[in-house]
Amino acid sequence: MSAPSTSPLAERVGRLGTETAFAVSAEASEWKSFGHTVYPFHLGDLDLPTPENVVEAAFRAIRAGKTGYCPNAGIPELREALAADVGASRGVAYEADNVAVQPGGKPVIEKFLLTLMDPGDEVLYPSPGFPIYESQIEFLGGVPKPYGFVPGESNFLLDFDAIEAAITPRSRLLIFNNLHNPTGAESAEEEIEALARLARKHDLYVLADEAYWDVRYSGRSKSIASLPGMKERTVILYTFSKKYAMTGWRLGAAIGPKEIIAPIATLNVNQESCTTHFIQWAGVEALTGDQSGAEEIIGILKDRRDVAVDLLNEIPGVTCYRPEATFYLFPDVTGLMEHKGFETYDQLRRAALEQAGVSFCTRLHFGRALPGEERRYVRFAYSGISTDLIREGLGKLKEWAL
Ligand SMILES: Cc1ncc(COP(=O)(O)O)c(C=O)c1O
Repeated sequence: MSAPSTSPLAERVGRLGTETAFAVSAEASEWKSFGHTVYPFHLGDLDLPTPENVVEAAFRAIRAGKTGYCPNAGIPELREALAADVGASRGVAYEADNVAVQPGGKPVIEKFLLTLMDPGDEVLYPSPGFPIYESQIEFLGGVPKPYGFVPGESNFLLDFDAIEAAITPRSRLLIFNNLHNPTGAESAEEEIEALARLARKHDLYVLADEAYWDVRYSGRSKSIASLPGMKERTVILYTFSKKYAMTGWRLGAAIGPKEIIAPIATLNVNQESCTTHFIQWAGVEALTGDQSGAEEIIGILKDRRDVAVDLLNEIPGVTCYRPEATFYLFPDVTGLMEHKGFETYDQLRRAALEQAGVSFCTRLHFGRALPGEERRYVRFAYSGISTDLIREGLGKLKEWAL
């Protein structure tokens, strides 16, 4: 029999994107395997352990036989705990029926789009931004409408002109990631209010990606869901990954209007049946038990932020804000690239890895550059590297940059 002449893959597979940051990880690992020291600033993962009380709760649940299927929308205890916790912290009244537990925060993106986006619908989303937004919009037949950021006094601001200009009669959904990966930006109240006004005016439904809600060092987060008329049109992406150092456990939730959460729960039935039963009991402990483990994680991250921001700003041709949230820094490296004579991001990234051992992602790992975007940025994550190694690595980067 002769080989098939055409690809057996469905057409949509050609539209499926990925997280190209994983390729940076692979390159860093390869470089390390050659015997070089690598300072890992590319990982959006934590090198810190999950709090002990949460770990114990998982073991207890396994021993208690919580190993079978459980309700597809999540165990009632976790749905209730999430409704109470997220409701209180956002100032929005939620009940268990407003919550569909998920294996991580990431599945909320696909399920939000599957539930609310028809082919041809336009979706506004941030670029730079978490790359899965664009991947899933295109994969599922939507029309991607990226919006960018502009440099502000103490952090990046939403490019409001671009957002307004991108809205058309086909615009249906808005993805708003506050606190933001990769910039570390946080919207001021006026910015969130202006965005909510736009959503109401143009009848947009909103995915509020609040993956980093609790990863903050001062002040308080505000949710777009808490503004007038917004609870009815907003789905919150909640995750245990960052706050409790639980990235590999895969536990999160979609929280929003019951008429959207019900079909999302039916998607759970179709896709994974339920999120791992005993992991959900660990989630109950994380939310309702001792919080000292989570507080310790934030304290460590804050120290790392301070060291990293100070050192990055000492490097000629590099300027960096000091974000009050997330574990990302998004320094402007335009001057450094000019000084070194690099034209492409990849030249900078490879040279920094091979000549200073410092590994990071660039703007292009978070979407295509937008028209008119002139400054160059890279992302430093300090979640997976100790304060001592931050000092050592950024010291080497500075010497190399001179
Ligand atoms: C902005 C943003 N949203 C969602 C996620 C998904 O998180 P999870 O690990 O819970 O799937 C991430 C993970 O890095 C993220 O950065």
